[in-house]
Amino acid sequence: MTHEYRRPTASGGLRLHLNENTAGCSPKVLEAMRRVTREEAAVYPDYNEAIEACASKFGVSAGSVLLVNGLDEGILLAALVMLREGTPADPCEAIIVQPAFDMYAACADGAGGRIVEVLPDAGLDFPARRVLDALSDRTRIIFLTSPNNPTGLSIPPENVESIANAAPQAMVFLDEAYADFSGESMIQSAASGAIPNLIVGRTFAKAYGLAGVRAGALFGTPAGLSAMRRVIPPYSLNLFAAAALPAALADLEYYNWYLSEVRESKGLLYEVLDRHGLRYWPSNGNFVLAFFGEALASVVSGLAERGIHIRDRSADPGCTGCARMTAGVVAHTQRLVSALEEVMCGAR
Ligand SMILES: Cc1ncc(COP(=O)(O)O)c(C=O)c1O
Repeated sequence: MTHEYRRPTASGGLRLHLNENTAGCSPKVLEAMRRVTREEAAVYPDYNEAIEACASKFGVSAGSVLLVNGLDEGILLAALVMLREGTPADPCEAIIVQPAFDMYAACADGAGGRIVEVLPDAGLDFPARRVLDALSDRTRIIFLTSPNNPTGLSIPPENVESIANAAPQAMVFLDEAYADFSGESMIQSAASGAIPNLIVGRTFAKAYGLAGVRAGALFGTPAGLSAMRRVIPPYSLNLFAAAALPAALADLEYYNWYLSEVRESKGLLYEVLDRHGLRYWPSNGNFVLAFFGEALASVVSGLAERGIHIRDRSADPGCTGCARMTAGVVAHTQRLVSALEEVMCGAR
């Protein structure tokens, strides 16, 4: 079985299939990138300002921050350092709780690990007991996502803690790509060492709209981050990302505005789904997973014909008949809602 990540495509139209920020980054980010000089372009970037901005934003020391070229790079680093000691005959194990972001399997596989999947139940609630049951003395990394993609459901922090306590030989990699939208985070528990084997990953792609710029961060104790610090390329972020990050983190007004658009958009999506009696998972992220059942293919293609792309997730364990829709700028969501109304009436 291949775990290669296939980049979803969409030519033009409204991109509501990749959980991107549909507004764009703060204008202040572009101003900061425009201030980059020819001379700065010619030398290797300095990260001090970006690290300090990140540390102070999340209330941790600079030694607890490792900037990465998008959270994807953080996932790759974690898989590499935790799984490399295995051999083909006796591989180390990575636990992936399905449905999950595809890059965990791609990176664990690429690092030579054996993937142990924990399958969901019908409600897609976090299967804490089954994760504990899946632990073995070969477990080296456990990928958890809160809020989860594609469900939008959060993991109770006590579940994260009990899994970390039960697997002291492993890293618990808690992916908080969407935590800006939930307002909940375990960065403090990771950075303070309260949960010593916890690493938290964040991306600035979503709430801050820097997906194209590529910027993320890992948080943990300095000791917990050290193996990854040793293997990350020294200039992993380019200078535009290093310039963009402090500007993005400083523009709270823009950030808060975007969070409120996402909240309102989710409300609009819940309303239309309720009107049509469709099941969905109330989401703590910037997207909503809904069950369209047998109408799924016609809904996805009907929306695409109207220039709106959503993501068919029916191949994910537990998600048969489901699609995920980004909730971003309210005006975009209103377009999606009108198109959904048309398509759903046609699908009856
Ligand atoms: C759960 C999760 N983690 C990580 C990422 C990747 O983040 P980045 O764009 O910073 O690499 C995504 C992107 O969709 C995601 O959904």
